[in-house]
Amino acid sequence: MSRSIRRIAINTGGGDAPGLNAVIRSAVLAADGRGWDVLGIRRGYAGLLDTSKIVQLDSDAVRGITHLGGTILGTTNKGDPFEFPVTLPGQPTTLIDRSDEVVENFHRLGIDALIAIGGDGSMRIASAFAAKGIPVVGVPKTIDNDLTGTVATFGFDTAVTVATEAIDRLHSTAEAHERVMVVEVMGRYAGWIALHSGVAGTADVILIPEIPFAMEHVCEKITDREARGRRFSIVVVAEGAAPEGGTMTIKGEEVGREVLLGGIGELVAAEIQRRTGKETRTVVLGHIQRGGQPTTFDRLLALRFGAAAVRLIDEGRFNNMVALDPPVVRAVPLEVATSRMKCVPVDSDTMLTARDLGISFGDGG
Ligand code: F6P
Repeated sequence: MSRSIRRIAINTGGGDAPGLNAVIRSAVLAADGRGWDVLGIRRGYAGLLDTSKIVQLDSDAVRGITHLGGTILGTTNKGDPFEFPVTLPGQPTTLIDRSDEVVENFHRLGIDALIAIGGDGSMRIASAFAAKGIPVVGVPKTIDNDLTGTVATFGFDTAVTVATEAIDRLHSTAEAHERVMVVEVMGRYAGWIALHSGVAGTADVILIPEIPFAMEHVCEKITDREARGRRFSIVVVAEGAAPEGGTMTIKGEEVGREVLLGGIGELVAAEIQRRTGKETRTVVLGHIQRGGQPTTFDRLLALRFGAAAVRLIDEGRFNNMVALDPPVVRAVPLEVATSRMKCVPVDSDTMLTARDLGISFGDGG
């Protein structure tokens, strides 16, 4: 047991992902077993700005939560303490730096180390706090699977499973009505969810941010199928997909958070209908991909990550993120994890498999 650690804190930041509660449970039990006290910081870092939001986490507090979606600590994607949004009555929202308050409260509460569970934004914030002297260990979470340094983030497998099941279901209705179904999935600037669910769900066209598409090629695939008597088609579109020479479709912008993507599915569907004359419908899977129970894979990964984070703290190996590098979970420096986004390599085995299966990426390839 580490002699210097007595109390640690845990927070969950950014969009939720199935498996967050499993990490919390695992970390709390691993810390409890070492005789450490664990504080839960509610809503990202908000609990370190308003300490009435701090909760005590012990084995009772984390009973029966491994299989639950969401996070018992709450989360937010607007709470970066380095760029904290403040709106005064009648004035536009401005961003102020409240990071020193976080550091002050962290020390005042006698916390020795922080486990920050989150995606790329949360890892960047964790890294910035590490630079301010807070001993931190990151745990990578995101359905988007876009974090560098780890083969997988928990939440991704659940999102892909949900999307694949939706595509399976859409097949029968598409075929019955001889329609084109366009399914828009999440993933931000990376096409992992679209690629994996599209290939597993036997989509005909998959559009991902990594490959700009041309409507001409998308429609070519649909009309080719039509000519071969396949009178329906399934098109999976990542929310971040963009046409050649075009830009991503933005649904909303708000000060203090990343832009909200969405709407490309509807645009692609309208264009398919216009060009091919085929009746086309759009389904936006949205937050269904993030809700509900984590799959077995995500639960296990999350439990492994939580315990590994505590082991890193015990060994004094701060400023790292736990990462899956099969068969092991290892430590990756936060600066490596935040150095770039992990996008789909267009020459990866899964991409080659998709091309061999005859799936179109809308690029004529
Ligand atoms: O990063 C996870 C994610 O679900 C993205 O795939 C999506 O673009 C975004 O979060 C949606 O954010 P919000 O929950 O704020 O709508």
